[in-house]
Amino acid sequence: MADSLDYPVTFETARLRARRPRVEDAPAVLAAYASDPEVTRYLSWCHYTEPAPLAVFLSRCVEAWTAKQGHLTYLLYAKDAGDALVGSIGMERDGGKVVFGYVLGRPYWGRGYTTEAFRHLSAWALAQPGIFRIWAFCDVANPASARVMEKAGLEREGLLRRWHVCPELGSEPRDCLIYSKVR
Ligand SMILES: CC(C)(COP(=O)(O)OP(=O)(O)OC[C@H]1O[C@@H](n2cnc3c(N)ncnc32)[C@H](O)[C@@H]1OP(=O)(O)O)[C@@H](O)C(=O)NCCC(=O)NCCS
Repeated sequence: MADSLDYPVTFETARLRARRPRVEDAPAVLAAYASDPEVTRYLSWCHYTEPAPLAVFLSRCVEAWTAKQGHLTYLLYAKDAGDALVGSIGMERDGGKVVFGYVLGRPYWGRGYTTEAFRHLSAWALAQPGIFRIWAFCDVANPASARVMEKAGLEREGLLRRWHVCPELGSEPRDCLIYSKVR
């Protein structure tokens, strides 16, 4: 069944502008965050070394938006950093639940950008009819991400044992913390 939610094409917060990705963003995304193994350490994908495979990934992001299905991603640009591409945030709906993920380029860590974007988009999601729960998870060894979830008003629900494979760290699933906010 087609998703009835009216996802924003763009959104803006005090310091950020967000838009949907395009295939031709690959070199910029590579430079901003996708080529840094420190950034991808706890993610479900390994860092990229070339723009071509990243362009393939971005074409899937474009398709997801067209179909309104799967992981729906925005690129984040910081107004107070010369409109630089700083990272991305995405969400995926499953009935009344929406799960979030986010990533930021290392030079921009610790400025509150991710919290700002996550607060905005999670508030949007929870304001939609039929959405009752937003949630996210992070590796137990990723306290910065756990802190983002706390600052965005999510509550810790528990430990997901052997939940998520971080390919940068090996093939075995790792323990994760799960956080949520409900209405
Ligand atoms: C996790 C990540 C998205 C956070 O983005 P960010 O924009 O730096 O986050 P914010 O600035 O909004 O908040 C980070 C918080 O974590 C805290 N923090 C950072 N490193 C920390 C650490 N090692 N231990 C405890 N807290 C830490 C910061 O102090 C800050 O909290 P504060 O405002 O209370 O001081 C970013 O570090 C990142 O992209 N990491 C790599 C990708 C990733 O792990 N994504 C999440 C996958 S679940």
